[in-house]
Amino acid sequence: MNIEYVRSRFIKHFDGKTGSIYASPGRINLIGEHTDYNGGFVFPGAIDKGIMCEIRPNGTNTVMAYSIDLKDRVEFKIEDPIGPKTSWARYIYGVIQEMRKRGVDVKGFNTAFSGDIPLGAGMSSSAALESCFAFALNDIFGDNKVDKWGIVLGGQATEHNYCGVKCGIMDQFASVFGKEGKLMRLDCNSREFEYFPFKPEGYRLVLIDTKVKHELASSAYNDRRKNCENTVAALKRKYSDRSINTLRDADWEMLESVKEDITDEDMKRATYVLGEKERVLAVCDALEQNDYETVGKKMYETHDGLSKDYEVSCEELDFLVQVARNNNVTGSRMMGGGFGGCTINLVKNELYDAFIADATSQYAEKYGKKPSVYDVVISDGAHKVI
Ligand code: GLA
Repeated sequence: MNIEYVRSRFIKHFDGKTGSIYASPGRINLIGEHTDYNGGFVFPGAIDKGIMCEIRPNGTNTVMAYSIDLKDRVEFKIEDPIGPKTSWARYIYGVIQEMRKRGVDVKGFNTAFSGDIPLGAGMSSSAALESCFAFALNDIFGDNKVDKWGIVLGGQATEHNYCGVKCGIMDQFASVFGKEGKLMRLDCNSREFEYFPFKPEGYRLVLIDTKVKHELASSAYNDRRKNCENTVAALKRKYSDRSINTLRDADWEMLESVKEDITDEDMKRATYVLGEKERVLAVCDALEQNDYETVGKKMYETHDGLSKDYEVSCEELDFLVQVARNNNVTGSRMMGGGFGGCTINLVKNELYDAFIADATSQYAEKYGKKPSVYDVVISDGAHKVI
């Protein structure tokens, strides 16, 4: 991300004055997919791509926002009860409302922002946008009274209340708490987390983007969440003497015992979630022993579960994972919410070039477009730049 570029646009599109610049990253996730809203574990890290914004209070009650990448300008009043219709501006509007709920006295400001996370690639450009503005508004108008978790939850609530996606907390968490060179294992139930240094000797982590745009808001994500809630409701009825809040609280035996009370679809979804819970823990053990072959094996298993039981993959993602298998790549799976976006691949150094060349040419031949390739660089979370 380029500070001079954002600054020059800010100066050009407003009154020539400068403000403060903030940045917040997107994320990858090694393993633990669709587990966050099920109270499970996730294993994300922030990346070297994100959103950068410049902000300057303007002494009014109006926000004047400019999207540098879309060349689009939107204005709205802070206290407007409905807010703008434009989707990118709704994130900013939502964050403002959520930070106000948390005690930040947000006033009018001018802002211009830009990003280098490919949109819809499953690297959480929306969470980066939310945490960038939540962090900035907390600093400028709130004297940093909201702690990091408040910023995370404010971003998530923005998705829920203003953008129609009932997401978990993984993306906002990674964008705010990220640390250079470290992955994080977060227990989404207790919110306890640990930083894990991630320097796999002899391997590289690389993303391959199908360039199929996913539409999280297109209800499929919320439908999956509903599937899981149906099973939790059945478990609660059956085990009324136990405290069951999410699928985290269920084991295989309990799930089997409610099989007749839920649909086959709900059962398939829950089967994936329980399996994923075990896989994340197995990956943690394997990482402690530098056993990347096991990490990779679990990644493939996760992909199969996401594709067959959770049904959030797509033909192009399945194709790229198969190409990875054919190239003896250690681990490969779709990453993020699904229905498009990237695969994440753990590949031995000596196989890297051949794999990337093969994946690129095979994909281009079959789908008529070249996939993008991104080497993963694990970076810091939301921060003030200048
Ligand atoms: C999206 C959501 C996250 C998480 C992932 C799937 O990125 O925003 O909360 O559920 O999908 O793991």
